[in-house]
Amino acid sequence: MQRLHGGREAVFLDGPGGSQVPTVVIETMVDFYQTCNVNTHGCFPPSHEVDRRLALARETLAAFLGAAGPDTISFGQNMTTLNFALSAAIGGTLQAGDEVVITQLDHEANRGPWLRLQERGVIIREVKLKESGELDPSDMASKITSRTKVFAIGASSNALGTVNDIALGRRLTSAVGALLVVDAVHYAPHFPVDVQAMAADFLLCSGYKFYGPHVGVLYSKPGALDRLPTERLCVQDPAAPYRIETGTLNHAAIDGMRAAVDYLASWGKGTTLRERIVDAMNGISAYEHRLAGIYHDGVRRLPGIHVFGPDFTSRSRAPTISITLDKHTAAEAARALGAQGVYVWDGHFYAARAVECLRLAERGGLLRTGISMYSTDGDVRRLLDGIEQLA
Ligand SMILES: Cc1ncc(COP(=O)(O)O)c(C=O)c1O
Repeated sequence: MQRLHGGREAVFLDGPGGSQVPTVVIETMVDFYQTCNVNTHGCFPPSHEVDRRLALARETLAAFLGAAGPDTISFGQNMTTLNFALSAAIGGTLQAGDEVVITQLDHEANRGPWLRLQERGVIIREVKLKESGELDPSDMASKITSRTKVFAIGASSNALGTVNDIALGRRLTSAVGALLVVDAVHYAPHFPVDVQAMAADFLLCSGYKFYGPHVGVLYSKPGALDRLPTERLCVQDPAAPYRIETGTLNHAAIDGMRAAVDYLASWGKGTTLRERIVDAMNGISAYEHRLAGIYHDGVRRLPGIHVFGPDFTSRSRAPTISITLDKHTAAEAARALGAQGVYVWDGHFYAARAVECLRLAERGGLLRTGISMYSTDGDVRRLLDGIEQLA
C-alpha cells in the first residue's frame, strides 16, 4: 500500500478487518480481465483458460488448507454467505429438538446462520466465554451431548486473538457423532491450516483476510457436501464442490486469491506447494508473534489501559490485541490514532456477543490492533506512542 498520511507512510493495523493486497494479486486480476473475461465451460480458448484457472485455484486453496484435493474446495461471495448456505443445508437434515452448539466468542457470521435454525425448532446452546477471553472447556464438554448435531466454533477470535481448542471440540463431537464446523477466517492469515489434522467436517475462510480479494472459501470433508440438500438450480452440477456454488462466481477474484496463496508460499521453502505454504505460514506466525508481543508488553505497562484476551506467553495466540482506555472510548482513541495515520478498529467487529459478555458494549467496545505480515517495528512504535499520548 502506497498511501501517505500527512506526508508519512500510513500504518495499517486493521488486518483483521481486511488486509492489503500485494501487487502480484492486482496484476493477476488485471490479466484475467484483459485476457479471459468470459464464462466457464465454453468451446473456445479463453473459456478453457478460465476453466484452467479455476481448477488451479481449487488445487492451490486445497494446498493452503491441507485438504485432500480440489473437490473439497467451494467458492462463494464471502464467508458469511457461504455459512448461511451451509447452515440452511445442514438445517434441512435436522429435526425439531436437535441441538446445535455455538460459542459466545464467535463472530456473528458463525452464530447468526445457526441461530436462524431456531425457526425450524432446532435448539441452540452456547459455550461460555471466560473473563480470560478463552472458551470454558468444561462448559463445552457439558453442552455437547448426544442431542448435538453440529458444533460451530471459530479457530481464532477476531476480537481477542484467542486460539480455540479445536482438538477438544473434535473429540467431543466425534464421541456423539456431531459435525464440526470451523470458522478459520481469523486463523488462516496467521497460522498454517490443516483441515485433515483438525478433522473438520467443514471449514470456512475468506480471501480478503489473507492478502487476496473478496472471495469466501468452504472446505468440505470428502463426501460431506454430497449428503446435504443445498439450495441449487436443476441445471447446476450437483456434485461437490459445485453443489453449494450458486450462479456465476467472481472468477477474477478467485484467480487473485490463488495468486495471494502463491505469494504467501513464495516466502517459504520446500519442494511441494504445501510444504512452502506451511513453512511460510510458520515464519509469518513467528514474525507477527514477536511484533504483537512488543505491542502487548508496551501497552499493558501504560496507565489506565486494560488488555483483553489470553496471556501472550503462549505461541498459540493470534497477533490481534484489544484494549480499553480509562480516559477515552475506543472510537475516540481510534479517531485520534487515525488522525495520525495509524489505522486501528474500534467497537465489536461483529464479535458482538463476546463484547457483550465482557460487559463492554455500553462503553463502545474495544480498540483492536491487528498485526499482519507487512507490519513493522516502526508501526508498533508509532501505535504505542499514539496510545501513550491518549493514556
Ligand atoms: C472470525 C471471522 N469470521 C467470519 C467473518 C466474516 O467473513 P466475511 O466478511 O468473509 O463474511 C469475519 C470477518 O471479519 C471474521 O473475522
